[in-house]
Amino acid sequence: MWMIEESWFENLPVKIIGKRVICFKKATSTNDLAWLEVSRNAPEGTIIFAGAQSKGRGRFGRTWLAPPGAGICASVVTRPNLNIEKAPLVLVVGAIAVCELIRERFNLPATIRWPNDVMLGEKKIAGIIIETKCITRQPEAIVLGIGFNINLSEAEIPAELKGEITSLAIESGRPMELKEVSRHFVIYLDKWYQKITAGRFDEIALAWQGMSGLLGRSVILETEGQKIAGLVTDLDPVAGIKLQLPEGERQFRGEKITLLRLVDPRP
Ligand code: BTN
Repeated sequence: MWMIEESWFENLPVKIIGKRVICFKKATSTNDLAWLEVSRNAPEGTIIFAGAQSKGRGRFGRTWLAPPGAGICASVVTRPNLNIEKAPLVLVVGAIAVCELIRERFNLPATIRWPNDVMLGEKKIAGIIIETKCITRQPEAIVLGIGFNINLSEAEIPAELKGEITSLAIESGRPMELKEVSRHFVIYLDKWYQKITAGRFDEIALAWQGMSGLLGRSVILETEGQKIAGLVTDLDPVAGIKLQLPEGERQFRGEKITLLRLVDPRP
């Protein structure tokens, strides 16, 4: 059974995300469905799930693979009281929520690969994207889209992605109960989104720094067609990443970074 059902989310202990849940068997992109909900004045925290997705969008025009039953494809309508510069906080709480869920419920050593990939070792298990539409400096809504591989099997991974992506089922060696994972997914998202509404930005930055383990490490990043190597001296969801370069320190904003990798092996 791979359909996500609305009844699974009744009476969840949540305050904002998951108070209203809409499930579809399949969709082109749940982000499109979330924008449709925004145009209908959907309340903040409305979350849309699809059991399969044919045109899932990733960052930088990439696509997201989601055959039927492979995992969670979800988009959340958020309406945070934030200026556009602070929108990356929404992306970061999405990554923290999934990373913490995997660590706490499945005891697997998930990490966050800057800025938005959730990883198990060198393999990606979840991808996160935010989309905004603004007329003023404060977006009317931010759509948070998350793809999370739950029961994706090795056989379903195309040749070009072999060794690059994984799923909870592959890592645990057994099929996962989609209902349980989806319910916890909403609870963790709600918990971390509430840190934004409560203005607890320091807590978000600390959790994110801890899960990404990049402070003090040597990295190479790719930004606007350039590859730059340096030592990470600061990491902030809004201001971005600060690198120590031979000519001094330089800050790079997250949305401009297409790739970041560690130079030195993990200690
Ligand atoms: C990335 O890794 O670049 C982000 C991938 C985000 C994919 C999810 S799947 C649910 C939601 N709907 C979309 O079209 N994209 C996001």
